[in-house]
Amino acid sequence: MRLAVNIDHIATIREARKTDEPDPVAAAVLCELAGAQGITVHLRGDRRHIQDRDVEVLRRTVSTHLNVEMAATSEMVRIAQTVKPHQVTLVPERKDEVTTEGGLDVVLHSGNIEKTLRQLLDARIEVSIFVDPDLEQIRHCHKLHSPRIEINTGKYSDAVTRGTGNPAAELDKIATAARAAKKLGLTVLAGHGLTYRNIDAIAAIPEIEELNIGHSIIARASLVGLEAAVREMIALIRNPRR
Ligand code: PXP
Repeated sequence: MRLAVNIDHIATIREARKTDEPDPVAAAVLCELAGAQGITVHLRGDRRHIQDRDVEVLRRTVSTHLNVEMAATSEMVRIAQTVKPHQVTLVPERKDEVTTEGGLDVVLHSGNIEKTLRQLLDARIEVSIFVDPDLEQIRHCHKLHSPRIEINTGKYSDAVTRGTGNPAAELDKIATAARAAKKLGLTVLAGHGLTYRNIDAIAAIPEIEELNIGHSIIARASLVGLEAAVREMIALIRNPRR
């Protein structure tokens, strides 16, 4: 199971002062040196953290795999067609949200997602769609020929970390969704809200090929350093405590 580190928060610190440090490009290099197999950034419509230039420079400097999360808008498609990251993950976006709040409703937005998928795949960019662990959504991703999905682990994470909901039931939904998606031939990724404390059960799901983790790693990095934080997470993913 691979780890892709979401480095948005590095840009959040920089944007807090509208200055030029810390640089997400330097953070990406350190993550890769520590063993991360991918770098993820979210280019938001409001550019609250990652900027267009970050994506352009990261495309030239990331030596593993650059995944850019974006909304399925014509502006974002144009940027992706120009920059050509290795992968785009389509996510829902709401202006006043603190972070991505849930999976994309692929059934509701079917027409736009199908068009966006085709434009990105035609530009030879891998595409993944961030979806809730819901079988109808997953079947619809397959119907639209999405090669990959990222299963939203947010509800499971909240159930463990905040005590909202039933962790075992949420975990079961993720495992069932991962099995179903794999059976349909989709590449299965997962992420959102994962931490050093709730990663074990997710890391033990064999169908999941890659995890996208941001907040928890960057939070720990602020205390112990980025390389140590990435290495600790990789160790937990490779040897989950069962
Ligand atoms: N996956 C997606 C689609 C996301 O939007 C985010 C947050 O940007 C993550 C994973 C990472 O979530 P977290 O920062 O909670 O680890």
